[in-house]
Amino acid sequence: MSASHLFSPLTLRSVTLQNRVMVSPMQQYMAGKDALAGPFHFQHYGRQAIGGAGTVMTEALAVSPEGRVTWHDLGIWNDAQADGVARIAGLIGEAGAVPATQLIHAGRKGSVGRPWEGYNPLTAEDAATGFPPYSTVAASAIPANAGWHTPDALDADGIARIIDAYHRAATRAAKAGFRFLEIHAAHGYLIHSFLSPLANKRDDDWGGDLNGRMRFAIAVADAVRAGWPNDLPLSVRISSVDDQAGGWSIEDSIALARALRSVGVDLVDCSSGGLGERTTTKMIRRQEGYQVPYAERVRKEVGVATIAVGLITTPAFAESVIRDGRADLIAIGREALLNPHWSLHTAQALGVDPTFSEWPPAWGWWLEKRSRAARATSSEN
Ligand SMILES: Cc1cc2nc3c(=O)[nH]c(=O)nc-3n(C[C@H](O)[C@H](O)[C@H](O)COP(=O)(O)O)c2cc1C
Repeated sequence: MSASHLFSPLTLRSVTLQNRVMVSPMQQYMAGKDALAGPFHFQHYGRQAIGGAGTVMTEALAVSPEGRVTWHDLGIWNDAQADGVARIAGLIGEAGAVPATQLIHAGRKGSVGRPWEGYNPLTAEDAATGFPPYSTVAASAIPANAGWHTPDALDADGIARIIDAYHRAATRAAKAGFRFLEIHAAHGYLIHSFLSPLANKRDDDWGGDLNGRMRFAIAVADAVRAGWPNDLPLSVRISSVDDQAGGWSIEDSIALARALRSVGVDLVDCSSGGLGERTTTKMIRRQEGYQVPYAERVRKEVGVATIAVGLITTPAFAESVIRDGRADLIAIGREALLNPHWSLHTAQALGVDPTFSEWPPAWGWWLEKRSRAARATSSEN
């Protein structure tokens, strides 16, 4: 068996991840208006749970009703929703992976239709089908894109209410059995709208200079840390850079990572872009691991653990990211949709698991026997 950095464990507080692969948070937009998990979610996460990743992070869970991106997001603002996602946490944990989840408030990017239905702001036409537009909030009353809903700028009470919603959501996530929590501060959602100078035009304590714009993110992280058990790890996903000139920069991300670490954040998950667009940054050429340089820089300059994400698809590249100290974990998104056994296959490709011992034994025993038979046949020929 060959030594692999990707398939080495990592201990964060009291939690040991079996390897450095995390299934990236991916919203499925398959809940009803009650924001409860249902059969599709159980099948999807059960499928990911047995795929060999050390950590399976669920899609983002909305901390409040208006914090949903669509009417079909999962929520965690009430106990029934927490009971539903507890079943997902159980499925992941029983398969030997660490159950992780992510908290979101969509901010000004809420009240849109599902991606495969156009991803556009809801209209009167949607209202006629039972899915009316809903009010959105943000740092400032600036729409995410031309023609999108104009959000209400949050006042001090609104800010306090949302910080409290994050706190309560973190407590519910712990009660539901998750052992690793992430705050979604990227992709143009509420926290990102406070961070970016392109979206935050406030002249009070929650805006202005970098410290003012970071204040909301740090207050949320602080409140989440207080509601989340001290022995469990916490990460924050950031957009390391904006996708527009004059926006948030990697230097800003480094300052933010330092501040987050000081309030008990253990990892920084380095994504990018999405401030006003639906996708990640366009300023960087898309190629394998195109966002890894952000995770590397934050890790090296701040000394905080990082997660690298974005078009990481091949075993050799994934292994190199960990081996070369560019990140502590890698997250696999769409590749895990394509192949939920990506981690098991990668372990084989890297020579870590030649005997299928990492597979569920009900399959591994047969697959190993089959591969021995195949080897014997090929040596006879
Ligand atoms: C269907 C889908 C849903 C997503 N939902 C989320 C989400 O809930 N939270 C988040 O932080 N990122 C979300 N993302 C972004 C992914 O986590 C990941 O960062 C992105 O897809 C790039 O990684 P990849 O190239 O491995 O797919 C989503 C991506 C996809 C494809």
